[in-house]
Amino acid sequence: MANHPSFNERLIAWQKIAGRHDLPWQQTRDPYRVWLSEIMLQQTQVATVIPYYQRFLDSFPDVASLAAAPIDRVIEHWAGLGYYARARNLHRCAQQVVAVYAGKFPDLPEQLAELPGIGRSTAAAIAAFCFGKKAAILDGNVKRVLCRQFGIEGFPGATAVDRELWRLAESLLPDSDIAVYTQGLMDLGATLCTRSRPRCDDCPMGSDCIARRDGRQAELPMAKPRPAVPERSASFVLISDGARLLLERRPPSGLWGGLLVPPEGETEAVLSRLGLQALQQRPLPPLKHAFTHFRLTLQPVLCTVAPVQTTGESGLEWIDLSRAAEAGVPTPIKKLIRQVASARG
Ligand code: ADE
Repeated sequence: MANHPSFNERLIAWQKIAGRHDLPWQQTRDPYRVWLSEIMLQQTQVATVIPYYQRFLDSFPDVASLAAAPIDRVIEHWAGLGYYARARNLHRCAQQVVAVYAGKFPDLPEQLAELPGIGRSTAAAIAAFCFGKKAAILDGNVKRVLCRQFGIEGFPGATAVDRELWRLAESLLPDSDIAVYTQGLMDLGATLCTRSRPRCDDCPMGSDCIARRDGRQAELPMAKPRPAVPERSASFVLISDGARLLLERRPPSGLWGGLLVPPEGETEAVLSRLGLQALQQRPLPPLKHAFTHFRLTLQPVLCTVAPVQTTGESGLEWIDLSRAAEAGVPTPIKKLIRQVASARG
């Protein structure tokens, strides 16, 4: 890929002039502070994190004080940030750093990634920012940047795409300025290469970006593929005595629970169940309807029967053909009834 060598150079140059430099956790290489910020930033926006970060450090200035604190006090300081598993892991991680590493965070990304709440990307961020290690980050923002820049197809959550992205992220790493580069990736994803309305004209990588070249910024990264929904079909018998239509109330649970619809089933079975005889019957065109979890093809059959007084069975109602579509029936049934009613004029 021809633009690899210049990707990191351009990103580093851009970060130095246009990136963020004044975030509270950028003023330090203390792994405790960097770790805390990265955990808070995992699922929370910068602006929300800043006051929490500062209050947290006032109460727990170092890893030893955090490890020694009761968990309830830690949770109190987290209240409002959400995803409270982060606070529990944070506390456990502090205790492990004290117990296993004598209170000093390890500098290898592989060791950092073994600690509670620190995944591969967060481990790389800490190792790069604090120890200058050449390690690749790959959070949601970075995935978006890489998918667009290099035209990576497929859903990033898929194993094969995830592997490809990690390989790509590692191949792009610079030999120096790793902290600036890492911050640059984060800044690009947060400020220019945003999910909606990316500012491609201001992007230092815009001239080489595949998504921009092809106008596919909205398409990349690709969305999770929608699972193919199962196809079902069901037969409905539209029984009419010329002026009225016979509707049946569905059982309370299941598809269309409690609603009135034409009796469901094969024509002969339905007629015999209801003790009716058809004078005429003919199939109507099938109708497709999409539900959330499946697609249904309705197979309607129109049956004409001689006028009957009432059917004794409960749950059955004869409704004027002109009113039946309005009788609180489900949408696709409404369409069927309208077809029948209009065919009769
Ligand atoms: N999001 C995750 N890590 C970050 C950092 N170090 N600076 C800004 N935003 C971030």
